[in-house]
Amino acid sequence: MTMPTPKCPWRMQVHHIRQETPDVWTLSLLCHDYYPYRAGQYALVSIRNSAGQLRAYTLSSTPGVSEYLTLTIRRLDGGAGSGWLTQEVKRGDYLWLSDAQGDFTCDNQRNDKLLLLAAGCGVTPVMSMRRWLAKYRPQADVQVIFSVRSPEDVIFADEWQQYPVTLVAEHNATEGFLAGRLTPEILRRVPDLASRTVMTCGPAPYMEQVEKEVRALGVTQFFKEKFFTPVAEAATSGLRFTKLEPAKTFFAPVGTTLLEAFESNKIAVNAACRAGVCGSCKTQVVSGEYQINSTMTLTAQEIADGYVLACSCHPQSDLVLA
Ligand code: FES
Repeated sequence: MTMPTPKCPWRMQVHHIRQETPDVWTLSLLCHDYYPYRAGQYALVSIRNSAGQLRAYTLSSTPGVSEYLTLTIRRLDGGAGSGWLTQEVKRGDYLWLSDAQGDFTCDNQRNDKLLLLAAGCGVTPVMSMRRWLAKYRPQADVQVIFSVRSPEDVIFADEWQQYPVTLVAEHNATEGFLAGRLTPEILRRVPDLASRTVMTCGPAPYMEQVEKEVRALGVTQFFKEKFFTPVAEAATSGLRFTKLEPAKTFFAPVGTTLLEAFESNKIAVNAACRAGVCGSCKTQVVSGEYQINSTMTLTAQEIADGYVLACSCHPQSDLVLA
């Protein structure tokens, strides 16, 4: 079986699959070589083992603790990657993964007081780090608040019984759950909140709200996972984008990335890492002004030909795109 893309050189075999909640599954993978990663990191997965489609998923397992490498994935309606991984991939199949990536990890935090805040599938790096902290920093004081839609949506429900955790359910809260959403009142009950390092992962609006609330309560050390990005409404004015093939004109506000401009206008684009690392969002700009903060994976010739990474490209004028 040949590697579909040099970006995903790690071949893994699916050992077993476990359903966590009605729409979330954990795939346990065997890697025959040593695969280096850090708790909380993610990998790109080659969808359908093809070069063109890469998606980023958190490695929900924990190095030095978990028996298997695991991916925990929510099935999204119409999600090409999550649909394939959760509904079609079977035990014994092979997947191809990239090197582990990302800096949302706790192994470089000096503070022994942490507050981990997760919502929905954002709990995957949080559980990875929670296990890591239990094994390698047993003295650490770790508080976790995990928000879900309803009690049946608690991912890793059995495993959470080993760790102190506050569960918050928006609907149908039963015994053991606080009802509603995460509020400043719930946050205020966390001992020594202001002196803790706070790390959060979940949908972007949740992380933004959490950031505002904990900062208002005096938290200064705050980290959030970055690859969950909201898709904005399509703009009707601002910078103008003229796409030649297929022909289309669309708009996006000044200050958005080219990737955000594509996504808000429903222009097909692959975006796996959203951080200028994987190269999947490569796009050619024919004319116009832009600033870039990453050219990783692009060759000198491609840069000379106007190729950019859409996630790392900040348009400064109207653009014409190939
Ligand atoms: S999405 Fe990975 S480089 Fe843009």
